[in-house]
Amino acid sequence: MKNIVILISGGGSNMAAIVKTAQQQDWAQRLGARVAAVISNKAEAKGLVFAREQGIATAVLDHQRFATREAFDAELMALIDPYQPALVVLAGFMRILTPGFVAHYAGRLVNIHPSLLPAFAGLHTHQRALDAGCKFAGVTVHQVTAELDLGPILDQAVVPVLPGDTAETLAARVLTQEHVIYPRAVAALLPRL
Ligand code: GAR
Repeated sequence: MKNIVILISGGGSNMAAIVKTAQQQDWAQRLGARVAAVISNKAEAKGLVFAREQGIATAVLDHQRFATREAFDAELMALIDPYQPALVVLAGFMRILTPGFVAHYAGRLVNIHPSLLPAFAGLHTHQRALDAGCKFAGVTVHQVTAELDLGPILDQAVVPVLPGDTAETLAARVLTQEHVIYPRAVAALLPRL
């Protein structure tokens, strides 16, 4: 069985979309894959509740306990590696990862970013898209490499910017597309891992 480990920091709606799609499409049977664990750097992350309800193993690793990013990432790897993951999925995991972590999972580490990369890497993507006068926004699933938000693109969805949009309304419209493309991109990638 190919294990998927999902890292979250908050609501976990992308994680939930992947878990639900895995159930609906019977990934265990069709792809020989399952979501084995969900790990959060925040104990209060809402997504942990959903994961536990689904009977998925969960863990919390509070980054504030660590003096350096390297120390945090080393402990995170120690939590992930017992699952021998075919794929590590960043789903709203709001930590910058060290080059050592990225290298350790090279080729089996993916992220979702709420913009049409390579535009608007980093934070506050929706406000920056509105400020720039973009007529279209969107979302990107990409392989993670050492450069922040700049790995090879696996999938994208385009979302129109509508008159009167705020960062919040645009984010909500983009999020519905995230829930479509992230499970799709993961399902497409798994047979190659
Ligand atoms: C999503 O919009 C995701 O694209 C974004 O955080 C949100 C998490 O929502 N990720 C980033 O901004 C990464 N830089 P979720 O916890 O409900 O999946």
